[in-house]
Amino acid sequence: MTRSVPFFNYPALFAEHREEYLSTFEDVLSRGAYIMQRDLAEFEQALGDYLGVKHAIGVADGTVALKMALTLAGIGHGDEVIVPSHTFIATASAVHQVGGTPVLCDCGPDSMIDVESARRVVTSKTKAIMPVQLNGRTCDMDAVEAFAAEHNLKIVEDSCQAMGAKYRGRQAGTFGVAGSFSFFPAKTLGCFGDGGALIVDSDDLAEQAKELRDHGRGSDGKVHRFGINGRLDNIQAAILHLKLKRYDESIAKRRHAAALYQARLAGIEGLLLPPAPDSDNIRFDIFQNYEIQSDRRDALRQHLADRGVGTIMQWGGHMIHQFEDLGLCADAPYAEEMSKRYMMLPMHHLLSDDDVNYICDQVVAFYKN
Ligand SMILES: Cc1ncc(COP(=O)(O)O)c(C=O)c1O
Repeated sequence: MTRSVPFFNYPALFAEHREEYLSTFEDVLSRGAYIMQRDLAEFEQALGDYLGVKHAIGVADGTVALKMALTLAGIGHGDEVIVPSHTFIATASAVHQVGGTPVLCDCGPDSMIDVESARRVVTSKTKAIMPVQLNGRTCDMDAVEAFAAEHNLKIVEDSCQAMGAKYRGRQAGTFGVAGSFSFFPAKTLGCFGDGGALIVDSDDLAEQAKELRDHGRGSDGKVHRFGINGRLDNIQAAILHLKLKRYDESIAKRRHAAALYQARLAGIEGLLLPPAPDSDNIRFDIFQNYEIQSDRRDALRQHLADRGVGTIMQWGGHMIHQFEDLGLCADAPYAEEMSKRYMMLPMHHLLSDDDVNYICDQVVAFYKN
């Protein structure tokens, strides 16, 4: 029997805890607490405690967090920043918008930056590298740190997809100058609109970041630098605070779904799965996405669509170097090949075992033919 498993179910995000959300709206809105009120401060405290970091700063979205992180790292005109081609355009556009030049490199079979390919593009102008903690997994941070130290580069993590992921017990977002998170609704921690956070350890950087996100204004009310309006809405902060309380539970569900996919699909010739949860003792993956590669990707997607299963290709099926209008070339043969094979199966905390088993049944049937 055909079952409908959409790639993502946005209305279900609200329906799940409707009454709690409505009472949060009622509480916050009736206080007239719209911008930079106590709900924001309380969420920032809770997020910092959750991640074990000194400062978590709510911002308008993940892209703002990235731009602020690059600014705090001192990236500006004439500086080159190494970015993997397999990432959201926001990683590269954040570099461009602070005046730098994104220089693209390749990724490896687990979708993460390939540090060896970064070696091929480093120049005297390179000032930073942006490891993208894609799909809720961390890069080989030993290799990234060694490379950065060797070339005297700053690390500016794009950890927008990896809140709570760990590498050798260390949180994604804590490896470089500042970490960034996106709270886009489909993210592991999503709000009801756009939202993001920046995390930093030093008090000085935290103060600079708080000024940057609020037109450069300090706590004394004076403008100390040119800033932006990059604030996280107070109502979104209140919702995020509520959702943070169930975050571990929702990550556990994602990891359970990933384990089930692995159990059912491992060993199918022509399919490449992401590393399973606990496949090594170095990483803790949070499975923002379940990105696979198929030797017959387009036919598999059609087969699944015909049977009610939604899939997508990240970035609309294009690596950054494939957006010709941007004129960014890349020496990225793996990403180039991968763009013909990659796709994502449904992955979220509302997915049931029956949903995953149904999807797997269809994939198995496809490969039997
Ligand atoms: C890897 C990556 N970087 C940056 C961003 C930007 O985040 P936002 O959409 O919140 O600006 C995203 C969001 O999808 C992302 O996936």
